[in-house]
Amino acid sequence: LTVALLFGGRSSEHSISCATAGGVLAAIDRDRYTVIPIGITREGAFILETDDPAKFALNPNAMPEVVDNGTRVIWPDSASSRTLQVTDAGGTRALGDVDLVFPIVHGPFGEDGTLQGMLELIGLPYVGSGVLASALGMDKHFTKTVLMQAGVPVAPWRTITADAHASDPALAERALAELGLPAFVKPARAGSSVGVSKVSTPSQLEAALATAFAEDHKVLIESGLVGREIEVAVLQDRPGQPTRASVAGEVVVSGRDFYDFAAKYEGAAGIDLVCPAELSASELAEMQALAIHAFDAIGGAGLARVDFFLTADGWVVNELNTMPGFTPISMFPSCWLASGYTYPQLIDELIEVALA
Ligand code: DAL
Ligand code: MG
Repeated sequence: LTVALLFGGRSSEHSISCATAGGVLAAIDRDRYTVIPIGITREGAFILETDDPAKFALNPNAMPEVVDNGTRVIWPDSASSRTLQVTDAGGTRALGDVDLVFPIVHGPFGEDGTLQGMLELIGLPYVGSGVLASALGMDKHFTKTVLMQAGVPVAPWRTITADAHASDPALAERALAELGLPAFVKPARAGSSVGVSKVSTPSQLEAALATAFAEDHKVLIESGLVGREIEVAVLQDRPGQPTRASVAGEVVVSGRDFYDFAAKYEGAAGIDLVCPAELSASELAEMQALAIHAFDAIGGAGLARVDFFLTADGWVVNELNTMPGFTPISMFPSCWLASGYTYPQLIDELIEVALA
């Protein structure tokens, strides 16, 4: 099978996507799959990349990056053709017939339905959620709206656009007063905690909004949840197997404000990932059922990671990621490894489900 691995992209999570690609390139079974590595630059050019996993290793001092090398990948022009081509200094040549696209691109223009829409138009099968679920999962306002409607508990929030804030700054202040402290201010459409701030006093609100508005013109102010931060990975059903949730992984925060970007990817102190998390059998079962319910509620496909808080009032979903981080240190593969899969098996599973 020929798999086009797509990574990088135009979002602020570009480097995380590259690190995810490094993990997949290192683990994918080369006897089973021919991999065509396609990088998307920060400007949005599709280029032919090298398939050396070492180039995309997660390194806090030099985050991996797709750098324009002048090549251009040319997609098939219709569902009747699967031939991928590349143009480089030597002219245009065929790269092969693609059986499947593995779009491991996080954030806007990757995980938000836009790339999925392009693949639908071309008619190539791909790993993961389709247009609608990707768009819903990317947008925290709509994720929460749909989950609430489906009876999945979410933290109270208010959504504010940059225009509304500019014409009435008191709107955000009132929202904060209603929601209480601490609160989190988040861009509606971003990931890896980029643009997210914790607000512990009203005086921190304006700076938090500015940080979030730098990422998106729509932001959420959300009640800070008190509880344990626990995540679970979901795999879509396939013939003979229902949709499954993994064992849970816990983010243990100590001596740090929250699980921010530096803690996620730059090795900053104050965070421990514990997998499997210590939970009673009934707590785990309830969480897994809610995760699958949330996945179904947004119409998810392929995979997801569902992030929860275990509060005094029970499980609350923080968010749902339709293309979760897949770096060697990420929670999605860690949870499946702790559930008995190997990394290559997990890749097989995602590819097989996408082709089924
Ligand atoms: N948005 C990052 C990649 C995650 O959810 O893991
Ligand atoms: Mg996220």
